[in-house]
Amino acid sequence: MTELSKLSAAERATLAQELQARYDAFKAQGLKLDMTRGKPSAEQLDLATKLTVALGEADYKSADGTDARNYGGLDGLPEMKAIFGEMLGAPAAQVVVGGASSLQMMHDTVVRALLHGVPGSKESWGRGKIKFICPAPGYDRHFAICEHHGIEMITVSIDENGPDMAEVEKLVASDASIKGMWCVPKYSNPTGTTYSASVVRRLASMKAAAPDFRLFWDNAYAVHDLYEKSDELANVLSACAEAGNSDRAIVFGSTSKISFAGAGVAALAASPANIADVKKHSAIQTIGPDKMNQLRHVRFFKDYAGLVSHMKKHAELLRPKFEAVTEIFARDLGEKGVATWTKPHGGYFVSLDTLDGCASEVVKLADAAGVKLTAAGATFPYGKDPRDRNIRVAPSMPPLAQVKSAMDVVTVCVLLASLKKLGA
Ligand SMILES: Cc1ncc(COP(=O)(O)O)c(C=O)c1O
Repeated sequence: MTELSKLSAAERATLAQELQARYDAFKAQGLKLDMTRGKPSAEQLDLATKLTVALGEADYKSADGTDARNYGGLDGLPEMKAIFGEMLGAPAAQVVVGGASSLQMMHDTVVRALLHGVPGSKESWGRGKIKFICPAPGYDRHFAICEHHGIEMITVSIDENGPDMAEVEKLVASDASIKGMWCVPKYSNPTGTTYSASVVRRLASMKAAAPDFRLFWDNAYAVHDLYEKSDELANVLSACAEAGNSDRAIVFGSTSKISFAGAGVAALAASPANIADVKKHSAIQTIGPDKMNQLRHVRFFKDYAGLVSHMKKHAELLRPKFEAVTEIFARDLGEKGVATWTKPHGGYFVSLDTLDGCASEVVKLADAAGVKLTAAGATFPYGKDPRDRNIRVAPSMPPLAQVKSAMDVVTVCVLLASLKKLGA
């Protein structure tokens, strides 16, 4: 394997011709492959089919006697709160179970803060210009919430330990208009990063110019391991409490990629003051969440251990797809000096970095050959990757054979775009 930049101009031209021929052959196949969004596959969803019949005719009461068919139970059934408490790292009393989407809970938490502030606020966040710190590459829908509501985004980089903490500490300490920070602390979307214990401690204890600064701790991939050994994530709520910043973190999660995507159960966990605030607002918004769905989930998983063991079946289906992606990248791009990629231990994505200025070209070339990739730039605030190099690869949904075909196309596109960049 030779680095492309070390080839002679003639060698590069020959290679470009060969690659173009392979690319044209792919194009002629009329492929239609979609690698855009991190959705579970049909096989993964099938694992939870019995959820739909988990409740018998007379089964509608939770352990404390709540009739799940009726209004009420604003913060969720006790059994469901216990499961999320273990998943999100909080006592059950500090959990509020919501509807089916954690993203909706994050969105609503932001909007309530804009309208009313949060515990510790002198005024609502919406009264002034506010900013959020956004580690990037990150989750496009977090960034969309900020953009939609006029919250300015400040990008910070992220490495294998988590966000660049020196930068985060400097920004948060010096600017009182920075009210929040998005964090996907375990198997981050898309880099697969799990924040180190030191990063969690620093986030919990750093000085914040805004007394009502919040970490939006989106633990979407808390139990989404690909391997037997799980990455360890320190408990942010305990770390915040120990640092005297009990109200700093709000932790979110859902069963979207455990049971059914968009038809699971979502929850948040936080300090008693934050929980009281959430309940105050949600009592206005709803008379109570869908407790029948909660009860179905409780019957199906039984407890947190049941949910974790269910995730091992997901891992069996997902691991070969992730390994196919990284093996094909290593086979075709290894030591060529034109790309780096992550090898995640969990979550839903592989993050591919091309040479600067090549990501949009790769996405365009792949699209023309029938392989849809997430739009270049999507993983950055405002959809703009300043180096135009990051591509989020989502291998979960298509069957393994399609993942392999799609990656065969992608690597040819990366090489073609790189050669063009290097002047072949
Ligand atoms: C980091 C992250 N958070 C949240 C979500 C969506 O969660 P939910 O289905 O609970 O709204 C996703 C889905 O891709 C995600 O990647």
